[in-house]
Amino acid sequence: MDRIVIEGGRPLKGAVHVGGAKNAALPMLASALLTDGWNTFTNVPALRDIESIKLLLSHLGAAVEGGPGTVRINAAGLNNSEAPYDLVRKMRASILVLGPLVARLKRARVSLPGGCAIGARPINVHLKALSDMGADLELVDGYVEATAKVLRGTELFLDVPTVTGTENILMAAVMAQGRTVIRNAAREPEVVALADTLNQMGAKITGAGTSVITIEGVSSLTPVSVSVIPDRIEAGTFMVAAALTRGDVLVKGSDPSHQNALMDKLSRAGAKISLEKDGIRVCGEAPVVGVDVKTLPYPGFPTDMQAQFMVLMSVAKGQSLICETVFENRFIHVSELRRMGADITVSGNTAAVKGVPALSGAPVMATDLRASASLVLAGLAAKGKTEIQRVYHLDRGYEHLEEKFAHLGASIQRVKG
Ligand code: EPZ
Repeated sequence: MDRIVIEGGRPLKGAVHVGGAKNAALPMLASALLTDGWNTFTNVPALRDIESIKLLLSHLGAAVEGGPGTVRINAAGLNNSEAPYDLVRKMRASILVLGPLVARLKRARVSLPGGCAIGARPINVHLKALSDMGADLELVDGYVEATAKVLRGTELFLDVPTVTGTENILMAAVMAQGRTVIRNAAREPEVVALADTLNQMGAKITGAGTSVITIEGVSSLTPVSVSVIPDRIEAGTFMVAAALTRGDVLVKGSDPSHQNALMDKLSRAGAKISLEKDGIRVCGEAPVVGVDVKTLPYPGFPTDMQAQFMVLMSVAKGQSLICETVFENRFIHVSELRRMGADITVSGNTAAVKGVPALSGAPVMATDLRASASLVLAGLAAKGKTEIQRVYHLDRGYEHLEEKFAHLGASIQRVKG
């Protein structure tokens, strides 16, 4: 297995370009199942998760092709409604084929995604909504078996504003009979990106980006050519890295309107942030001070940025409290950061971080995608050498991360294992 080796202590300087958003590309590629004909998706990041969903869509009978950054999908040959465990277990977001399969084939057999390192990751809200729309659902041998003679629009209230749940329901509702109203819908930019894609296909969706989304069912959708929005979490990771290493980085291509919560916290922590014509500039020359953070559904502070921000707080002046309200087990990175000298005490869903003058490099183990990113950040800031094992977690969600950091002046390299 590959590992990443970092000699820390170098301030990052220069410009870095953000790639396409993993969490927008995944539902957008799944939405191709709703059409007959060739859909073209550009600015698609080259990630393991993208390869996983391309494999799954092919397994279902879609034609999938494309080169670097571009994926073309034609679901005219869609002939299989089963998403098997061995494909779904590789990536939970495979559950995103459930809605389109029921909408298009009126049946689906999708393996339950199961939990992961950060939590149980239930899909009860997805299933309840599909049932309310007229699907018959059964859980058999670890699979969701869904059939629906007709999907009917209805009023839905989501117990939690689930991101992929909102996306699954959107894809089930676009060709349902009548109007669907989703209340307490997720408001993430990735949900808006999917709604925009579906509307370009001929759907009638209004309210995406707010907590009330209305969908008027249409009889069919047509293929599109769309570009994936920039990845706000990759962008945020570079923004935190600039502040953490006392550097000066222009994060190009990110949409500032997606970064209000993070920019607010970074500014309060002492980073100087300026919006330039082609990106967000973060300068970390001033000392960093501790600020409290609570993760919340968008537009609150993103849970996917919690681990990265904790690294910044671990070398800030003073103390900070980081409260994780979205997932029940998302402090796995704490034990590895402690091995690098961080002073962090966890009580329930809150981590109390006392800033230390510096972290020390150490051999560490990645456990999940965003925890891996936090270990890279810690290595960039630490004195001495850090070696990160199991970087395949990183490859699920970051494209050429070590090359991008090296381009900004970091001493970082991937050692093929
Ligand atoms: C999406 O996951 C993202 N993944 C996650 O990014 C992100 O952390 C998460 O949203 C929150 O922003 C993709 O978009 C592919 P949720 P998702 O359903 O949709 C509970 C990354 O690192 N819940 O919004 O699975 C659930 O347990 C990944 O890129 C239910 O109780 O998250 C969790 O506590 C990690 N019942 C909370 O809601 C349900 O039916 C939020 O989950 C669904 C969810």
